[in-house]
Amino acid sequence: MKDIKYTRLDELLDDNLEEFEPSESSITLKTVLIGIFLIGFFILFVFYFNTNLKLHADGKFSRRISMINGKLKKLKYKNATKFEDFYFRKSETQFLQCSEFLEDNQTSIDQYVSHGRLRRDKNTTFPLKMDCDSIKTRLFGDLPAFESLGKSIAFVRNAYTLYELQEVFLSMNWHPDHFFCYALDRKSDEKMKKSMRKLDECFENVIVLEKEYDFDRKGHRQDLAHFDCLERLLDRNWSHAITLQNFDMLIKTPRQLSDLSDLLNYTSIMGFDYGLKDRYDVTADWTPAGMKLLKNETGVPQEILHKKMVVRKSLNEVILSKMFVKSIFEKLNIDKVIQRFDDDKRFGVDEMMIMTLYENYLGLDGQMESNCVKEREDKLTRLNYWNLNQPDGVNPDCKSNWLRHSLCVFGVEYLKEISESPMVLGIFFVESEFDLLMFSANKVVEDFDFGTVLCVREMMKSGKTGKNPDTDWLASNFPQFREMEIKANGTFVRGSIEC
Ligand SMILES: *[C@@H]1O[C@H](CO)[C@@H](O)[C@H](O)[C@H]1NC(C)=O
Ligand SMILES: *[C@@H]1O[C@H](CO)[C@@H](O)[C@H](O)[C@H]1NC(C)=O
Ligand SMILES: *[C@@H]1O[C@H](CO)[C@@H](O)[C@H](O)[C@H]1NC(C)=O
Ligand SMILES: *[C@@H]1O[C@H](CO)[C@@H](O)[C@H](O)[C@H]1NC(C)=O
Ligand SMILES: *[C@@H]1O[C@H](CO)[C@@H](O)[C@H](O)[C@H]1NC(C)=O
Ligand SMILES: *[C@@H]1O[C@H](CO)[C@@H](O)[C@H](O)[C@H]1NC(C)=O
Ligand SMILES: *[C@@H]1O[C@H](CO)[C@@H](O)[C@H](O)[C@H]1NC(C)=O
Repeated sequence: MKDIKYTRLDELLDDNLEEFEPSESSITLKTVLIGIFLIGFFILFVFYFNTNLKLHADGKFSRRISMINGKLKKLKYKNATKFEDFYFRKSETQFLQCSEFLEDNQTSIDQYVSHGRLRRDKNTTFPLKMDCDSIKTRLFGDLPAFESLGKSIAFVRNAYTLYELQEVFLSMNWHPDHFFCYALDRKSDEKMKKSMRKLDECFENVIVLEKEYDFDRKGHRQDLAHFDCLERLLDRNWSHAITLQNFDMLIKTPRQLSDLSDLLNYTSIMGFDYGLKDRYDVTADWTPAGMKLLKNETGVPQEILHKKMVVRKSLNEVILSKMFVKSIFEKLNIDKVIQRFDDDKRFGVDEMMIMTLYENYLGLDGQMESNCVKEREDKLTRLNYWNLNQPDGVNPDCKSNWLRHSLCVFGVEYLKEISESPMVLGIFFVESEFDLLMFSANKVVEDFDFGTVLCVREMMKSGKTGKNPDTDWLASNFPQFREMEIKANGTFVRGSIEC
């Protein structure tokens, strides 16, 4: 509680006393005593009748009573018997039936949707106890004891909206063997920033960078923040990092991700698309020598130094092996390439840099060596449903009937698919102040189904997550995995693999 200032009951009442202090200095003792008596009475009154108090007296006094009454109601910390009780009233969650939704029971889904999906924004959250013990109780008080994992993951996330959403995400992914780093948006409100920083204080394996960033919808500063986090985590013992944005929801358990990392060995996971010409400077010098990309050019083949890199593209979300990340920091002037892509005049700038470094041979450890000229989608990282070139809003092609930025918003209608998906994460949108700040013309959508998030947690808890991919599946979908297998067999010749 020390440095997190949530309004407390005593503070609230103190404020109130001050406000009732008369402004004229020539006030009599009698008036003061009557005042104190009235306030005392009023406080008791509020204490005993705060649940359904409605005073109909006129004037300032009654307005203050109902205002304080409202605050008192909100100030009651919730005693949760179930996880969702920390964040929602029982009356709100009465139609949340995760186990039915996961079975795709249309009746229960319709019932939930017709009574209004669960929503939270910063105006409707409950006060949460923010001491470390309370946070830990919320995050994993209802989970079985943690068992140690083989491989550790670094979760690297750029965050900007609602603390509660990030807390629930963390409650699904946190494990003592994993690592977490957050980069916060400068425009996030103070409460969000302070609450996130509290996580850093409470957990040895959670880092929240001191530096804050100017994120926007065009993807600016995303790569920079991810790499600042990766650098901070470099001396920790993880084998893969997963880069995430604010709304990305992991749909696999901490153990499944650890097992996946084991299977991947030093392979990184991303797709093989080509950069769109309006998203980067096509006229710039893209040779490593011209970009001063390498820290040390001595002994680097001319073929690497002077070969123009081809700009590749996939998603912002990728799975990176420690070997590859380490080599990037060791061998490259990473700030140069971050700046090159983080072009303020362009849109969608955060989906090219890592692929460009991974898919053009630069002599980095753990990178793809073969030149894969095909376009290949990343079939592991992100589950989403595109409906391109259609306006935001009601859209019957989406199961949840809502489209935003060309993506179907995940409502509880998608839970069955999520629970059967081989993918590692789903993208989930919550409408935010952030978008309003950046794009005032952007239509304000308010679709926000927190029920999906709560049920995914339930899904993980009950072990109903989709199967992890096996080596055959990885080999058939990812040329970089196949390349690794061939290398392990000792039969690899660069450029030899079919991709
Ligand atoms: C919550 O539980 C504590 C102890 O278990 C109790 O003292 C407190 O009154 C309860 N609060 C509410 C709002 O029920
Ligand atoms: C589906 O959910 C409804 C409402 O909760 C329930 O009454 C019904 O038994 C469920 N159907 C099946 C097949 O489980
Ligand atoms: C929250 O409340 C403020 C002040 O009443 C309002 O300006 C803002 O739009 C609200 N935000 C949301 C997300 O509802
Ligand atoms: C790092 O983690 C690996 C398992 O991924 C383990 O085998 C190794 O002993 C760990 N190294 C240190 C220094 O803790
Ligand atoms: C990757 O696989 C090779 C064998 O091909 C093995 O020697 C090495 O230890 C593995 N590395 C990791 C990080 O698991
Ligand atoms: C640069 O690389 C060469 C060849 O590997 C090496 O001999 C030299 O020490 C390196 N220079 C620096 C400054 O690291
Ligand atoms: C690697 O070698 C093993 C054993 O010789 C073989 O079964 C396997 O198909 C090879 N894998 C690849 C990718 O070449």
